[in-house]
Amino acid sequence: MFSGSHLRRTCTLALGFVATGPLVAAGPCDIYYAGGTPCIAAHSTTRALYNAFTGSLYQVQRGSDSATTDIAPLSAGGVANAGAQDSFCAGTTCLITVIYDQSGRGNHLTQAPPGGFQGPEANGYDNLASATGAPVTLNGQKAYGVFISPGTGYRNNAASGTATGDAAEGMYAVLDGTHYNDGCCFDYGNAETSSTDTGNGHMEAIYFGDNSIWGTGSGSGPWIMADLENGLFSGLSAGNNAGDPSISYQFVTAVVKGQPNHWAIRGANAASGSLSTYYNGTRPSVSGYNPMSKEGAIILGIGGDNSVSAQGTFYEGVMTSGYPSDATEDSVQANIVAAGYSTAPLTSGPVLATGSSISLRATTSGYTTRYLAHTGSTINTQVVTLSSTTALKQQASWTLHPGLGNSACFSFESADVPGSYIRHSNFALQLDADDGSKQFREDATFCPQAGLNGQGSSVRSWNYPTCWFRHFNNVGYAARNGGVHAFDAAASFNDDASWVVGAGFA
Ligand SMILES: *[C@@H]1O[C@H](CO)[C@@H](O)[C@H](O)[C@H]1NC(C)=O
Repeated sequence: MFSGSHLRRTCTLALGFVATGPLVAAGPCDIYYAGGTPCIAAHSTTRALYNAFTGSLYQVQRGSDSATTDIAPLSAGGVANAGAQDSFCAGTTCLITVIYDQSGRGNHLTQAPPGGFQGPEANGYDNLASATGAPVTLNGQKAYGVFISPGTGYRNNAASGTATGDAAEGMYAVLDGTHYNDGCCFDYGNAETSSTDTGNGHMEAIYFGDNSIWGTGSGSGPWIMADLENGLFSGLSAGNNAGDPSISYQFVTAVVKGQPNHWAIRGANAASGSLSTYYNGTRPSVSGYNPMSKEGAIILGIGGDNSVSAQGTFYEGVMTSGYPSDATEDSVQANIVAAGYSTAPLTSGPVLATGSSISLRATTSGYTTRYLAHTGSTINTQVVTLSSTTALKQQASWTLHPGLGNSACFSFESADVPGSYIRHSNFALQLDADDGSKQFREDATFCPQAGLNGQGSSVRSWNYPTCWFRHFNNVGYAARNGGVHAFDAAASFNDDASWVVGAGFA
């Protein structure tokens, strides 16, 4: 999808599953196989998508020594071993480096390369996702999804077995229905092998968000649509399809499938109920979409030309060979519901109470008399003592509120400038008035974790979970461990990003 000028900042028991031998629990890809439309790509950081799958689900890399490890299911067909990730990543930060393909075709997803648009890394690649940005539980067992911030993306431009030309395919993804934006484009599915916009009909991917430049559904979004290149389609045309509803589920199942001159969008609450059909009809009448010219690369979190302005959270998804039947997808939805997706806490470490006035003391050796404070709109650290002026004490005191962008985390309101909160902007922390916008509210939402250096708390951005409160030259940043800026330096990161939370001075 071309983003142009708008770049902005269960296992269910397989009832009805005809198999020889004993009745066994089937994963989504076992169900697609039985339906005659096998998975040719199967991606999930939360669980195995085949009943018998015991291989690696994903790979994480830790900040402390750049070592990597693979995370597998706890048992065949089971939930990811999140405990193995937690042990490997203890006392440091971790990124998701590979999302393995479970289909056996090797269609793994890795850091997306530059294309029509550059990613934010120094080499033009996209960012990798935090391994801990999207904790979740499946039937009570902890797992982690892939939290895509703007700038983050995964891709495979040399996939095998994916649909090309006008060939039929299906796909589904389980996503967080509350994490989205109107940037282009949070996609999962089939895209250009060149990472550039090669024309109408060169993509067929699931889109989720409230971008309204091309297609829209009813209400104000977010919607499940299809990114077919140079248009997000909710139905027959890149206009409004009143049958494509705004989504308000915590967890959403999104389905897109296409075959010659026919395609469909379906959706459901991933935690209960069944799929509804939002569009089921002919291809758009605009030139280029019939026949389609699918190229067969696989993207996650970005547009076909590497447009990187969107956000969303991916838990699992597959692509198939052939056009799955509605009945097959209905069985897959039952399997997803039975997997038991539910929310998990976004914070850890010392318990913090909303409504309280707090201070945040630096823990880096030589800086332990300094507290997170502000001078005007600049967030910095300052030496504060009981004999400091009232003005300075107020500048170093913060009132904790439920997160403006996600109430499972927190926002930090200034004691002396009521209505102003710490937010990040271009990776600096600053004090700004709440303007009520979705962007402000998300930028002002932070999720404290147990301190990275073993002391106090480390404070992670909700919408950019790779970024943490850090002091550097006594200025406050939303810093990424080992990232591209001077203030991202890996040296001293854990200490600079760990804070002892105490009572406020004022
Ligand atoms: C979708 O359209 C096809 C072809 O017209 C039809 O066979 C199928 O029953 C429809 N599915 C739904 C859920 O409406």
